[in-house]
Parts: sequence; C-alpha cells; structure tokens
Amino acid sequence: MNILVTGGVGYIGSHTAVKLIEAGHTPIVVDSLVNSNVESLARIEQITGTKQLFYKADLRDRDALDAIFSSNRLDAVIHFAGLKAVGESTEKPLYYYQNNLDSTLVLLDVMQAHAVKKLVFSSSATVYGSAPVPYVETYPAGQGITNPYGRTKYFVEEMMSDVAKSDDTLEFTSLRYFNPVGAHPSGLIGENPNGTPNNLMPYITQVAVGKRDKLGIFGDNYDTIDGTGVRDYIHVDDLAEGHLAALIHATPGYHTVNLGSGRGTSVLELVHAFEVAAGVTIPYKILPRRSGDLPAYYADASLAASRLNWRTTRTIEDACRDSWNWQSKNPEGYN
Ligand code: NAD
Ligand code: UD1
Repeated sequence: MNILVTGGVGYIGSHTAVKLIEAGHTPIVVDSLVNSNVESLARIEQITGTKQLFYKADLRDRDALDAIFSSNRLDAVIHFAGLKAVGESTEKPLYYYQNNLDSTLVLLDVMQAHAVKKLVFSSSATVYGSAPVPYVETYPAGQGITNPYGRTKYFVEEMMSDVAKSDDTLEFTSLRYFNPVGAHPSGLIGENPNGTPNNLMPYITQVAVGKRDKLGIFGDNYDTIDGTGVRDYIHVDDLAEGHLAALIHATPGYHTVNLGSGRGTSVLELVHAFEVAAGVTIPYKILPRRSGDLPAYYADASLAASRLNWRTTRTIEDACRDSWNWQSKNPEGYN
C-alpha cells in the first residue's frame, strides 16, 4: 500500500514508518516539522535502506495537501500530525484547536476529493476522561477530559464518526494509545522532546544521562500499589505494529480500538525497572500531585486482540532498555 503518514517525522510516526517499510508498504511523509527534526528520516533510511518521499507542509495548507494527493496514488492515510503537550494546550487552547482540528478537517476534505477511504488516527486514552478502569471502548468518551489537547482528540473522533456515517465505503479507525515509551532497538530513532520533558520516561532517561538532577514524582499518596500513579506503558514498536494491524484489518465504518498492554505499572515500578535495565540509579524526590492527573488507568486490550489480531509482545523491561539505548547514544536527541 502507498500510505500517507502525516506527522511521520515525529516519535510514533517514525517508528511506524519503519514497520511499514519492513512490511513492504510505501510510506509517504508529510510534516510541518513544528515538533520534529528531519534527521529522523535519515535515521530511518539507515535502519531500512529505504529513502522515504517527504513533503514539508502544514496539513492546513489545502493546496499543498491536494498537490501531494494528486502526485501520489494513495491507498490509506495514517494521521499522526498534531500538537500533543497537555500543559501548553491549557495555555494556548486556540493554537491547539486550530492546529489539531483545522488540519484534520482539511485532510478529511482532501481525502474525500481524491476518494481515499482508509484512515487511521492517533487518538489517546485521554478521551476516556474519568471513566472506570480498565478503559473499554464501549464506555462513552468525552466526559471529564481535563484539557484542550484531550478535547481535540475527542472532537476529531466525533468528526471522523460523522463523516464515516455519511459514506458507508469509508474505513476509519481511531487508535486510542495508552502511554507510549521505548525506542527502536537500534538506538537510531526515539523520543526527542523539546525542552523539559512533560512525560515520565523521557524525564527518567534525561536524569540517567545526567541532563537533569533528579526525577520529581507527582504524588505518593494515591490509592495504588505503592501510592504513585499507575499507567499502561506500551512499547512504541508494539504501538507501531498496531497501526499495521489496523490497516490490514480495516473494515467499513468508524471504529475505536485501544492500543495498550492491559497492565498497569506505577511510577516507582517503572523507575526500578529502568534502574535494572540501565544499571544506573535514578535519584528522585516526591512532589505534590500534578493537577489534572488521574490516579490509575490501563486498557482493556481485548478488542485489539479480537479485531486486529494484535497484542503487545514487548515488556516494560524491553522499553526501559531501548529508551536508555536511544538516550545514551543520543544525549541531545537529534540535535
Ligand atoms: P510528535 O510531536 O513527535 O509527532 C507529531 C508530528 O506532527 C510532529 O513531527 C509535528 O511536527 C507534526 N505536526 C504537528 N502539527 C502538524 C500540522 N498541522 N501539519 C503537519 N505536521 C504537523 O508526537 P508523537 O508522540 O509522535 O505523537 C503522534 C500522535 O499521537 C499525535 O497526534 C499525538 O497527539 C498522539 N498521541 C501521542 C501520545 C504520546 O504520548 N506520545 C499519546 C497519545 C496520542
Ligand atoms: C499524559 C496526558 C495524556 C497523554 C500522555 C502521553 C494528562 C491528563 N494526560 O498522560 O493526554 O496522552 O501524557 O503523552 O496530562 N510523572 C511523574 N513525574 C514526571 C512525569 C510524570 O511522577 O516528571 C507521573 C505522572 O504523575 C503519571 C505518570 O508519571 O502518574 C505518567 O505521566 P505522563 O508520562 O505525563 O503521562 P500521563 O499523565 O499518563
């Protein structure tokens, strides 16, 4: 398949591009580079021996997108492009709504104009808001979302659902990711956050490599195994393979599928697993709870298994080892 990969220069898109190439598909990348570095494309070429076609464009530029669709016979789109920093989205909500919603509207419109019917979208477990755990796809989404970033994911899901209802030949899937961690085992591509990381794993790896003094743990008095927050961490290569599965098993209609392991891991459990994998000690201090954080959530991963024949195969230990391999070989990321 010829697959347009929006946001394909970024963290999850780059790992997915490798899996697509290895499976014999042709990814065609469009990215504005607002949160990524083209070096990842050179690294993908090093891993796969394949140079990808890359267009530097903002998805909101309809003419540019239309030209990409006109010059390539596309079979499907995987839509990773979007802004993703939760804190920033509360400070600049319009920037988030404009970027994440307008870009998807233009994409849906251009797909329709060119009769491209298969779409896989990067959604997030954040759409469950404050649902009971484990999160199941049948639970009504959208209630209790705490930030504009999360609401953009929910609104895009609703847009996709409406569009899919208007044409029963469309095959649309929203993949609801849990917490992506890890890196390609080569250490050539990985997560490359700008500035101070918001997420746990890149913070841990930056402490390990000496860029930060110590990890701050947001709360140790939750009702969890050791008082720290619990999440469902998923290796980015498992996540990448989930996209392949979603394309292969696409059927008409609009579908939502969780991509998670189904297991919860606490902050302290992740820290200790990392210490073992990397052979380093991670100094930490306990801080107050972070506003907007939920105590514990993880996926019901059964729909992905039955519908996509996909399940995670990599462990937390694999993810820690691969994250450390990436960070230690690239202390400054791609810079
Ligand atoms: P990322 O920032 O590394 O990649 C996103 C890419 O999209 C970047 O390369 C960026 O330059 C590009 N982009 C953003 N707006 C664009 C636009 N208007 N036009 C063209 N390109 C644009 O992020 P990621 O971690 O790889 O996440 C990929 C997707 O998965 C995002 O939609 C994100 O919201 C979603 N997601 C991520 C996580 C996570 O923890 N990483 C969790 C759940 C969902
Ligand atoms: C956040 C976002 C979610 C997004 C996800 C992955 C919210 C409500 N959710 O989830 O939309 O999809 O990131 O990008 O913001 N922690 C620390 N110290 C740190 C960083 C994190 O203790 O320096 C803890 C957090 O309190 C949490 C866990 O580690 O318990 C994971 O945090 P994080 O990686 O930020 O992801 P989420 O909060 O699950």
